[in-house]
Amino acid sequence: MKVTIYGSGYVGLVSGACLAEAGNHVICVDIDAARVERLNRGEVPIHEPGLEALMHRNRDAGRLEFTNDTARAVEHGLFQLVCVGTPPDEDGSADLSHVLKVAQAIGAHLPRYAIVVTKSTVPVGTADQVRLQVQAGLSARGLAIEFDVVSNPEFLKEGAAIDDFMRPDRIVIGTDNPRTTELIRALYEPFTRNHDRLVVMDIRSAELTKYAANAMLATKISFMNELAAVAERVGADIEKVRIGIGSDPRIGYSFIYPGTGYGGSCFPKDVQALKRSADEVGYEASVLTAVERVNNRQKHVLFDKIKRHFGDLRGKTIALWGLAFKPNTDDMREAASRVLMEALWAAGARVRAYDPVAMPECARIYGTRPDLVLCKTSPEVVEGADALAIVTEWREFRSPDFDAIKAALRTPAIFDGRNLYDPAQMARAGFSYYAIGRGKPSIVSKS
Ligand SMILES: NC(=O)c1ccc[n+]([C@@H]2O[C@H](COP(=O)([O-])OP(=O)(O)OC[C@H]3O[C@@H](n4cnc5c(N)ncnc54)[C@H](O)[C@@H]3O)[C@@H](O)[C@H]2O)c1
Repeated sequence: MKVTIYGSGYVGLVSGACLAEAGNHVICVDIDAARVERLNRGEVPIHEPGLEALMHRNRDAGRLEFTNDTARAVEHGLFQLVCVGTPPDEDGSADLSHVLKVAQAIGAHLPRYAIVVTKSTVPVGTADQVRLQVQAGLSARGLAIEFDVVSNPEFLKEGAAIDDFMRPDRIVIGTDNPRTTELIRALYEPFTRNHDRLVVMDIRSAELTKYAANAMLATKISFMNELAAVAERVGADIEKVRIGIGSDPRIGYSFIYPGTGYGGSCFPKDVQALKRSADEVGYEASVLTAVERVNNRQKHVLFDKIKRHFGDLRGKTIALWGLAFKPNTDDMREAASRVLMEALWAAGARVRAYDPVAMPECARIYGTRPDLVLCKTSPEVVEGADALAIVTEWREFRSPDFDAIKAALRTPAIFDGRNLYDPAQMARAGFSYYAIGRGKPSIVSKS
């Protein structure tokens, strides 16, 4: 089948590569000419495990193309997948300008029947706006071409996106036309061979389902972070509490890890946009307001602990392990590391940082500055630093050489934003170890 994909970011590239792998002929179009040029040189602009090999294989087979020629792209696909960004507007609502520009382009160039499939995360009612824009373009051309608009929110997780697309838990389809359901079913059939995973509903419910999923996950995280704050103050260990509640099947173990707050390109903006959508219809979303407030506070927790430990931070050097908002990605959008680094710099401290894949992204965001040194390895970063802060739970940080860390640091202090280590073991090893929600730390000074 012929598929056009608008937007060559995380969702567009993963969807494009996976649909091409299933044998479809996919054209990915992006307005960012530099990005398209890189893609056509065979470079993959994002870090996503497994993506590069998939893209190369399908490009070589002629099933996956990249272009910035929108007219050609519109003419290509029976399926027109909209995967462009929906960043937050100034008031927190989702900025739909990219989505509506795509709809305009479709209206301006569509030659025959097509299904416009919105995979971008968009507020309820967006499908109606998309339909109007496409129709306006067709009417301006004096054409009566039929088309359908479908909501198909994407649930892939950065870092595991290929697997999520190839083996989805569910595929949510919002449609008002049974014929479209069958065509979409055929498109996704290669990924649902084991059993049917299509969840078909009306368009508005599908649009809301995506926000509901992200808001629920963000709520779980903020709930655990709130509980961690309480645990710390009453002398309990949140990790024990986590296991204690996770064993209840009604609660479950996933997404109840305390940490440095949620980040990335989705949860912060989607919680905000959902809150804004509720506001617009006269409903105050109190739970979402609290989720956001707890998260904003949580992003400062590591800095607060470091500040309390040292007092004056001027002239101090803090080593950072992890820059990405989570492991297995180079995405630093809304990452806790940024809040920490910026607070440290504002307090007069210097940062040495290491991340297995996000260092080019960090250099792109912050450029060269005297108070930031990017190191090539995790041991190098602690050399001569006053303390180590762990921000992202990359696997390689789980079992480090603590003797070497202790010898390299000026004071043996670790601020662990991901609860990677056992506090008792860390105390025995002679560290001042600060974790999230694990009772009072033992403080050690270097003799
Ligand atoms: N990243 C995720 O993990 C994830 C998961 C599920 C859903 N989503 C949602 O999917 C959407 C896309 O997210 P992303 O992370 O892939 O975004 P992204 O920022 O990585 O990529 C978006 C791409 O769209 C391009 N673009 C903008 N306007 C365009 C136009 N008119 N025509 C063609 N291309 C255009 C941009 O140049 C950019 O390359 C968002 O709504 C997001 O909320 C993201």
